[in-house]
Amino acid sequence: MTTVLACPVCGAALTLQPTAATCPASHAFDRARSGYLNLLLSNKKQSAEPGDSAAMLQSRRAFLERGFYDQMSDAASDAVAAVVAGRNDAHVADLGCGEGFFTARARAACAQGPETPATFYGVDISRPGIKMASTHGRDIHWVVASLHNSPFQPQSLDVALTVFAPIDAADAKRVVRADGALITVTPGPDHLDALRIIIYSSVKPHPKTPALMADDTLFNVASSTRVRYPIALESQAEIQHLLAMTPFYWHIGRATRDALAQLPRLELTVDAYVTVFRPRT
Ligand SMILES: C[S@@+](CC[C@H](N)C(=O)[O-])C[C@H]1O[C@@H](n2cnc3c(N)ncnc32)[C@H](O)[C@@H]1O
Repeated sequence: MTTVLACPVCGAALTLQPTAATCPASHAFDRARSGYLNLLLSNKKQSAEPGDSAAMLQSRRAFLERGFYDQMSDAASDAVAAVVAGRNDAHVADLGCGEGFFTARARAACAQGPETPATFYGVDISRPGIKMASTHGRDIHWVVASLHNSPFQPQSLDVALTVFAPIDAADAKRVVRADGALITVTPGPDHLDALRIIIYSSVKPHPKTPALMADDTLFNVASSTRVRYPIALESQAEIQHLLAMTPFYWHIGRATRDALAQLPRLELTVDAYVTVFRPRT
């Protein structure tokens, strides 16, 4: 199968076979039984199991499956579909894809045009994340790898998408085609406001404008859409799922945890920017 994946050792094109991926220099990488590829070299790992843990990802999946982020996800999918519309053999990578919710929905949104469907990749440094993501199916190439030095050939992606994940602008510039796009989903000022008010005595707002990359010599902002809407969590289970999937989880003490455990419901705001960046030439 033709992909734009690159060998993490030498950078040459990888060829995918049913049980492995290989490059012309005979570097070989096994595929897991569920189909995902592990391209994270052990000497590039900062810890034994880098990235989000299985528990965080299970909470994320349980929360996302209840539809709370569907509207935000639709905006991200629309932005991806607008870039790939009319392109044959497009390649789209979701960098920091977690358990694959946004990747799978973006692919579904892009599968509706008359063109050859785009090839999708979901990349995350968390092996449990990619293992879980692979349950979305083999139509997407699921890859354990870092988004720093991502496993793609130079200038090969029509879209690099990142949703609430770290952004490596320099690497994105390396792998995105000159006529492609980097699409980011980043928190807006009111994102999960009620939860943040409970957790921090004085809430530190998220930035008022989309998080721009450190080096704006690399990309121009082509468009930025704010998606903001209320949601209501109607059970303790939903509140605990949200808590466990956010970085807030690591900041709370016992008293706050107990207070949250008493809440029967929680109303809060989803607020995000979907920003389309075009490479500067
Ligand atoms: C907040 S989660 C977002 C997951 C997914 N995009 C979503 O919105 O459901 C951030 C993800 O970034 C991944 N991540 C963190 N550092 C990474 C890196 N250097 N390379 C690849 N993924 C990374 C984590 O493992 C985690 O799955």
